[in-house]
Amino acid sequence: MDQVEQTRSEALQALQAASSLEALENVRVATLGKKGSLTGLLKQLGALPVEQRKEFGAKVNVVKAELEQAIEARKTSLQGAELDRKLAEERIDVTLPARPLRQGFIHPISQTIDEIVAIFGDMGFVWADGPDIEDDWHNFTALNIPPEHPARQMHDTFYLPPREDGTPMLLRTHTSPVQVRSMVSQKPPIRIIVPGRTFRMDSDVTHTPMFHQVEGLVIDEATHMGHLKGCLQEFAKAYFEVSELPIRFRPSYFPFTEPSAEVDIGCSWSNGELKIGAGDSWLEILGCGMVHPKVLEYCGVDPTKYQGFAFGMGIERIAMLKYGIPDLRTFFESDLRWLRHYGFAALDVPSLTGGLSR
Ligand code: DAH
Repeated sequence: MDQVEQTRSEALQALQAASSLEALENVRVATLGKKGSLTGLLKQLGALPVEQRKEFGAKVNVVKAELEQAIEARKTSLQGAELDRKLAEERIDVTLPARPLRQGFIHPISQTIDEIVAIFGDMGFVWADGPDIEDDWHNFTALNIPPEHPARQMHDTFYLPPREDGTPMLLRTHTSPVQVRSMVSQKPPIRIIVPGRTFRMDSDVTHTPMFHQVEGLVIDEATHMGHLKGCLQEFAKAYFEVSELPIRFRPSYFPFTEPSAEVDIGCSWSNGELKIGAGDSWLEILGCGMVHPKVLEYCGVDPTKYQGFAFGMGIERIAMLKYGIPDLRTFFESDLRWLRHYGFAALDVPSLTGGLSR
């Protein structure tokens, strides 16, 4: 067998033996590469007598083309085998349970607002709101808190640059200015519920500079303090989902109500755990009172004809009490793990039926 034929048959044998793409590449390099066996034969060409050169060269080139073709064919078949192996090994198991879709959650503050609005909606209250950026008159003066009044100091107000006409501006420190806006813009009877953001320059374990309140206001010719108490009693029972829930009015002071009261609900503690309902302890939940005649006057409502009540409640506080959330600051940290734990599925939102009109 001549040299060319021997190189050819060795290469073909090695090709058939190559069982992976990597092994095949090694055969290709060993045969057709720069230092390959067939390439070596071509290099000998120059040393041959002229008459043999042509014949030898043609022969080597024929074998070269044959081997190139054989390598391609082997490559295709190895690739096919590799694909078959992957398909067999990496088969999708359609019987595995599907991965659940990540779902969004309702923030506890939004949930609590929806619950409060639904309960007062059932009692005929209408949702209302006002701006976060308020003027001094709506936030203080019209609520019977004139400049220099000591109650202003308690509010730790964020003041803003005044308007061009000199009107002092601020971030509202409570939702009470919406009482003023409603009385100025509509005639009694008025029955509104006002959830919203409020701001005070205060930041520690139990205070955040932004928090939420809900304001209630009823103005008509006959509403008295008994209605206030009945209304808050009904609210507390519905919100905390406790059928027997005593409430207690403690005399207090707010410039915009007279008389004023702070309201406690009954509760008990055992092993450090709070239970809301009749018990030996009380928890404060809100402030309220009969709207001060001076506030009615400021808002253009005749205090000899109309009267009514108002109340204001911290939303974070009653959300913490109902849902056992221990730390106020976590409400606003946007930690998704916290939200997945304390948040609500979209379907938990109470139906907004009753007297609520949006
Ligand atoms: N605005 C009061 C506050 O921030 C809460 C309040 C108390 C509102 C009594 C009322 C009310 O409407 O009658 O602290």
